[in-house]
Amino acid sequence: KKAIAVMTSGGDSPGMNAAARAVVRTALYEGVKVYGINNGYQGMLDDDIEELTSRSVSDLIQRGGTFLGTARCPEFKTPEGRRKGYENLVKRGIEGLVIIGGDGSLTGGSLLSKETGLPIVGLPGTIDNDVWGMDYTIGCDTAANTIVDAINKLRDTASAHRRIMLVEVMGRNSGWLAMMSGIAGGAEFVLVPEVKFNIDTMCEEIKEMYDAGKRYSIIVVAEGAGSAIEIGKAVEEKTGIDTRVSVLGHIQRGGSPTVEDRMKASMLGEKAALAIISGASDVVFGFNEGKVVAVNLFEAVNNTKTLNPELVRLARVLA
Ligand code: F6P
Repeated sequence: KKAIAVMTSGGDSPGMNAAARAVVRTALYEGVKVYGINNGYQGMLDDDIEELTSRSVSDLIQRGGTFLGTARCPEFKTPEGRRKGYENLVKRGIEGLVIIGGDGSLTGGSLLSKETGLPIVGLPGTIDNDVWGMDYTIGCDTAANTIVDAINKLRDTASAHRRIMLVEVMGRNSGWLAMMSGIAGGAEFVLVPEVKFNIDTMCEEIKEMYDAGKRYSIIVVAEGAGSAIEIGKAVEEKTGIDTRVSVLGHIQRGGSPTVEDRMKASMLGEKAALAIISGASDVVFGFNEGKVVAVNLFEAVNNTKTLNPELVRLARVLA
């Protein structure tokens, strides 16, 4: 291939920059022209595309967000929209596209590939860790660390006041972020959409813990499991214990990527660039059990990832 393009799409995640940087530098190293598409699919439609140099991606590895910009683009959900985007690539001689994004963004890529035949290689860029076929997505480690940092701080004040603290975390329909940060943060309860929970039983257990001398408890609530504000109200009513709620929100999406996210993003970026240059298509590169895996793009978007039951069990045992 003589020219490829790279874009980020959907919610940004820390490490997207490191991944895009690796794609760009690998392509240039291989003597291939590389274009950056700004603002995700929106930029593809708006013809907001520019050629990148090695310098375009300097001073980026340590930054959260995405220098390419990102967007959620309803027009790209139509075949006409995708055709228009495709034509903007073809007129520049772009022969393959690397998409860094989550489930929704990779679905857009799979449709683009199916309808136009444009070679597509995906990289999982989302804090949600909800891409099927892999146990890691770029940014999930940084987000989990941000949450654990918040939990550490909440523990201090929770203990001082003997309060129950609820922390609502992101993850869309996935409980992965909640489960990881709940285990790493030592939470008493982790409420996730994948596992049914009973508020009455939980409140009874909390009362018993307090009677036995416990000073506080931390409940991590995945946004997909319900509103922490609502759950917090019920918990306070049922336990009679002072309860406070923190909804962490977009704090979780920003910040300098961890070493793990930088390393994995860099390795996946190189893989993606080499694959697309050598003519591969319809594949998503990710990590599973510490190893790089290549997952079929259509399988990745047509299957729903489940939460590792071992983690669910561990959270209960250690609480
Ligand atoms: O997919 C990433 C994510 O941060 C989810 O965890 C969250 O539900 C959603 O995006 C928030 O989207 P937005 O930034 O558009 O409000």
